[in-house]
Amino acid sequence: MTELTVRKTEAAFTRPDVDLTTQLGSVTFPNPVFTASGCAAAGQELDQFFDVSQLGGIVTKSIMLAPRSGRATPRMAETPSGMLNSIGLQGPGIDAFLDKDLAWLAQRGARAVVSIAGGSVEDYAKLAAKLRGAKGLAMIEVNISCPNVEDRGQVFACDPGASAAVVQAVKRSAPTGVPVFAKLSPDVTDITEIAKACVDAGADGLSLINTLLGLVIDTDTMRPALGGITGGLSGPAIRPVAVRAVWQVRQALPDIPILGMGGIRTGLDALEFVLAGANAVSVGTTVFGDPRAPIRVLDELAVALAERGFSSVAEAVGLAHRPPEIRLPEGPDPVGDTLGDPAHDDEEQL
Ligand SMILES: Cc1cc2nc3c(=O)[nH]c(=O)nc-3n(C[C@H](O)[C@H](O)[C@H](O)COP(=O)(O)O)c2cc1C
Repeated sequence: MTELTVRKTEAAFTRPDVDLTTQLGSVTFPNPVFTASGCAAAGQELDQFFDVSQLGGIVTKSIMLAPRSGRATPRMAETPSGMLNSIGLQGPGIDAFLDKDLAWLAQRGARAVVSIAGGSVEDYAKLAAKLRGAKGLAMIEVNISCPNVEDRGQVFACDPGASAAVVQAVKRSAPTGVPVFAKLSPDVTDITEIAKACVDAGADGLSLINTLLGLVIDTDTMRPALGGITGGLSGPAIRPVAVRAVWQVRQALPDIPILGMGGIRTGLDALEFVLAGANAVSVGTTVFGDPRAPIRVLDELAVALAERGFSSVAEAVGLAHRPPEIRLPEGPDPVGDTLGDPAHDDEEQL
C-alpha cells in the first residue's frame, strides 16, 4: 500500500460511537489505549506519526534519580514472535526528565503516566516527591522490576514485602490525587500474592505485565547474544502469559483497576485483555515495527467493541469471567445487541 493510500484510509475512517472513557483510580481517561514504558520514550518520536494526545496516556520510560547509560551492548535480540532486550534503565535522570520530557508532554496536552524506578525504597520515595506539582502528570507507574541494592539485588517485584514497602513509600510521597499503579513482574510463582501486597500497601491500581526474564545464546559465537546476558522477553510470544496474569489478578481483586499489556498488536488483542479484566491497555514492542500501532489499536478496539454490540468499553471489562453456561445469542449474526450488557446474559440462556 502506498503512503498516499494509507493517508487516504486514515482520513476516511470514522471511529464508531462507543464510549471509550475508562477510570483508573481517581482519573478518567478519554480512552483505554496507552503506550508501554520503555517502548516510546516520552512520546516525542511517535508524535510525528500521530497526535500523541489522542491516546489515553503516554507511559514514559522508567526514570531514575540520576542519569544512567543502561547496560552493555548488544542490547536486543530477536526471538520467535518476540524480542529480548537488555536496555537497562537508560535515561537522563529525574530533573532533566521533568524539565524536558514531562514539560513537552504537558505542553502537547498529553496525559503523562510517569514510570519511576529505583534501587532502594528511599529512591522511589524521592522520585515520587519530585513529581509533586509536576504539570501534565496524570498517573504514576511504579516499575518494581528492579534489583534492590539493599537486599543482595533481589528484585522488588518478586517479593511481596519489598513490593509493598516500595508502594507504601511512593504513596506517602506522591502528589495527592494522582493514582499510583504498581507494575508487576510475571516472573513469580503467584502473581496474585504480589498484587494483593501492593493493593494492601495502597496501590490504586496494577499494571501487568513487565517482560519475562529470558536468555538467547548465539550459536556462532557460542556466547549469550546480549551484553547483559539475560534480557526481558516481550512481544506476541508473551501475550497468553499476560492475559493469564490479568485474568488471575482480576479474579483475585475484582475492583482494582488494571492496565494490561504484553504482545498487543491489534484491537482484538487489546479486547482480549479487556475481556480478561483490564480497564486499559499499553502497546509496547509492536511500536518498534509500526509506530502508528497505538492509535491503530485504539481505532480497531473501538470497531471490535461496536461489532460486538458494546456501547462502552467499561461494559466489556472482565466479561470473559462470566460463567460458561451463559451462551452467546444464536443465529447468523454472532454479535447481539444485548451481549455487552451482562444484565441480559441470563435472558440469553432462556
Ligand atoms: C525495549 C524495551 C524497554 C522497556 N523498558 C521498560 C521500562 O523502562 N520500564 C518498564 O516498566 N517496562 C519496560 N519495558 C516493558 C514494557 O513496558 C512492557 O511491559 C512489556 O514489553 C510487555 O509489553 P509488549 O509485549 O507490548 O512490549 C520495556 C520493554 C521493551 C521491549
